[in-house]
Amino acid sequence: MIKHIKPVIVVHGGAWRIPDEEIQAHLNGIRVALQEGWKILKNGGKGLDAVERSVSVLEDDPTFDAGKGSILNTDGSVEMDASIMDGSNMKAGAVAALRNYPNPVQIARCVMDKTEHILLSGPGCESFAMKHGFHPSPIRELMTERELHRLESVMLDEDFRAEHAFGQKRGTVGVVVLDEQGHIAAATSTGGTPKKIPGRVGDTPIIGAGTYAEDGVGGVSCTGWGEAIMKVMLAKDVAERMRQDVDAQTSAEQSIVILKERVNGLGGLICIDKKGQIGVAYNTPRMARGTMTCEQDDFWVAVE
Ligand code: GLY
Repeated sequence: MIKHIKPVIVVHGGAWRIPDEEIQAHLNGIRVALQEGWKILKNGGKGLDAVERSVSVLEDDPTFDAGKGSILNTDGSVEMDASIMDGSNMKAGAVAALRNYPNPVQIARCVMDKTEHILLSGPGCESFAMKHGFHPSPIRELMTERELHRLESVMLDEDFRAEHAFGQKRGTVGVVVLDEQGHIAAATSTGGTPKKIPGRVGDTPIIGAGTYAEDGVGGVSCTGWGEAIMKVMLAKDVAERMRQDVDAQTSAEQSIVILKERVNGLGGLICIDKKGQIGVAYNTPRMARGTMTCEQDDFWVAVE
């Protein structure tokens, strides 16, 4: 007889100095992403489908730095990174510096499902998406007035450094789930960091840095300053703690300390361990996040 596990979902919408006037939009966005993912999980659906769906919802919401709300490059272009990982078989897919497609996570899933590769980047990735039936969007559909104004101001600031600009950043998005079959999946998507040079790629599409999932161990999605996250391979750092039977919350907190102490990094992460316990940690002023489990009465969302 198949043993059914109680499903769990945890969603984030970025760790940064979220201004008071944007809190409600963040909470609303996280809630919708949770609802959409939970619909799949509570009906016995696959965790992989739930993370893809929830991240797609967040990519469509311009509140977040992913898909339609992406931060602009120094040349005014939009280049996005995303990844997805299936803990049941360790398969993964990712895209980097992708232009003109509003849902990078769906193309990452297609890379995972349809190729022997993990990471496709730039024009090759765009041709791949076209060949597999994804519809490109004109760049103006991925650009917000907000990001055009931000670009103007950061370009005037010669001393601007993304690593110190967490009031200026915006939220990378990510989702981790445990499904009824006991499989763990994780996905992450971003438009990157302010004032980034075209071609710059952060932690989000790097398996082990921005995203990781392994049945029997746990799943992780990270957010924050990618250049620091990559140096400590933050998602894998959390996973290796969970592998040693450290619970999800303690693992998350320990890894965020490592991020700060070893590379002076700012960011946050969500994770689920093999028992379905949730972990959240961040060292920024706020982090948008939410959870749903069978024990909760309703979706839980917060930024503090
Ligand atoms: N964590 C997102 C980025 O640095 O691109």
